[in-house]
Amino acid sequence: MKIAFFSTKSYDKESFDHYSSEVEITYFEVSLQPQTRILAEGFEAICVFVNDDLSAETIHHLADKGLKLIALRCAGFNNVDREAARQRNVTIVRVPAYSPEAVAEHALALILTLNRKTHKAYNRVREGNFSLERLTGFNLTGKTVGVIGTGNIGAAFARIIHALGCKVLAYDLSPNPDLPFAEYRELENVWGEADIISLHCPLHESTKYLIREETLKRMKPGVMLINTSRGGLVHTRDVIQALKTGQIGYLGIDVYEQEEHLFFRDWSEQIIQDELIGRLMSFPNVLITAHQAFLTQEALTEIASVTMESLQDFKVGRSLRNQLV
Ligand code: NAI
Repeated sequence: MKIAFFSTKSYDKESFDHYSSEVEITYFEVSLQPQTRILAEGFEAICVFVNDDLSAETIHHLADKGLKLIALRCAGFNNVDREAARQRNVTIVRVPAYSPEAVAEHALALILTLNRKTHKAYNRVREGNFSLERLTGFNLTGKTVGVIGTGNIGAAFARIIHALGCKVLAYDLSPNPDLPFAEYRELENVWGEADIISLHCPLHESTKYLIREETLKRMKPGVMLINTSRGGLVHTRDVIQALKTGQIGYLGIDVYEQEEHLFFRDWSEQIIQDELIGRLMSFPNVLITAHQAFLTQEALTEIASVTMESLQDFKVGRSLRNQLV
């Protein structure tokens, strides 16, 4: 089977090249967008990532050109028009839980860095500045942490943060029975009681802008907000306003509302036109990483292995373990 691979990075190639004798992969560095979809014409399968365009228009266009399978090498699927795929009989597979710990541990890294300011200490010491002024943090032990969404990643995060001595308040549409230490509460109570809030629910219509002016007002002043899920969960302008007033005390994000125009590329020699990210970058209490929470050796190996299993199963007509559509 011939497969077109979009948004390819060196680390993707390393893990997928391992299977080069089994499928014929054509790697494209560009993302799948209306302007680049011509590259996918004639391929029976495409392998895509979080910011590739899988709108109805793209799916209909590529189905006309012979597309049969979309392999998402990620867990989230908010960028996919599933209805269009259903209509055109295009199968979609994904990698639902390649390493929940990878993302959960990154959320912890954001919390610890923001709190203990190790990124600032590193730079200071390298410049011969051994002062401790303005580096004061707080003990995590005893703090109340709100976990929104307790699926694979939220549960892994809840276990880690609980092991550090935090009280875990959770909110999910279907509570996870494997987290006996977590106290499930109404969203309202989680907002009001948590010192730290970490988002782990998917982005869909009902979670879009879950964090906005109205919900931010209900949180504890100085709350720490962590988002490793999807940028659209957070209304960026409202968050900037809350950072200016001090309502948000710390913000750690691995995802950003308009990340598809920025992330996964080097803009260091260019003028960044996105005013919102520019404003976020100017706050001393904001830490941004560019959608790297998934990026561990273990996760990459698992993504490649699960994706290849789906491709092989599809090729021979076996049932698909990770079928989305
Ligand atoms: P999952 O499907 O195992 O868990 C999601 C949980 O959210 C489920 O328990 C579900 O009931 C809950 N949920 C759904 N709607 C909700 C709502 N309105 N309010 C509260 N909870 C709700 O998904 P998983 O694997 O834990 O991933 C969570 C999200 O993390 C993904 O949707 C994806 O957007 C993001 N992600 C980010 C990565 C990164 O590198 N930054 C990597 C992988 C996933």
